[in-house]
Amino acid sequence: MQPGRGPGRRLRWAIASAALLAGCSESPPSLHVAGGDAGRGKAAIERYGCPACHTIPGIPGYGANVGPPLGKLASRAYLGGVLPNLPHNLVRWLQDPPAVAPRTVMPRLGVSEAEARDVAAYLYSLH
Ligand code: HEC
Repeated sequence: MQPGRGPGRRLRWAIASAALLAGCSESPPSLHVAGGDAGRGKAAIERYGCPACHTIPGIPGYGANVGPPLGKLASRAYLGGVLPNLPHNLVRWLQDPPAVAPRTVMPRLGVSEAEARDVAAYLYSLH
């Protein structure tokens, strides 16, 4: 069989197309954060000093690169590489990252649940 031809190649195409179609037809999970206020979230992000580690659009910082940039968080599949990216998980992560991923560098900063909802609303509003 010539390389790049035959069933192997067709199978790879089928898998790639199926993955693509699944990605397109799957309705995006709702990233609405109940009770979250993006404006208050932005203020909380500045208060807690998140930009010391993360680059976050709309918030002045120094191009920090300790944690991942948060500008496209809404389209990321997992939080901290461990939790599916859904509103209740983000609210949980923001309150206590080491409880979710014990070896993470992101510290527990004392973010309350209400503040975490606001911060999540802000982060999900970025695209
Ligand atoms: C000391 C540095 C540090 C601070 C301060 C910090 N983070 Fe993080 N953050 C990290 C690191 C490192 C990760 C990657 C976690 C991992 O993969 O274990 C992370 C992960 C995240 C994630 C998950 C992103 C993803 O794609 O997995 C979010 C959301 C997040 N941080 C938001 C915040 C917010 C909001 C604040 C402020 C309340 C904050 N962080 C403060 C270091 C920090």
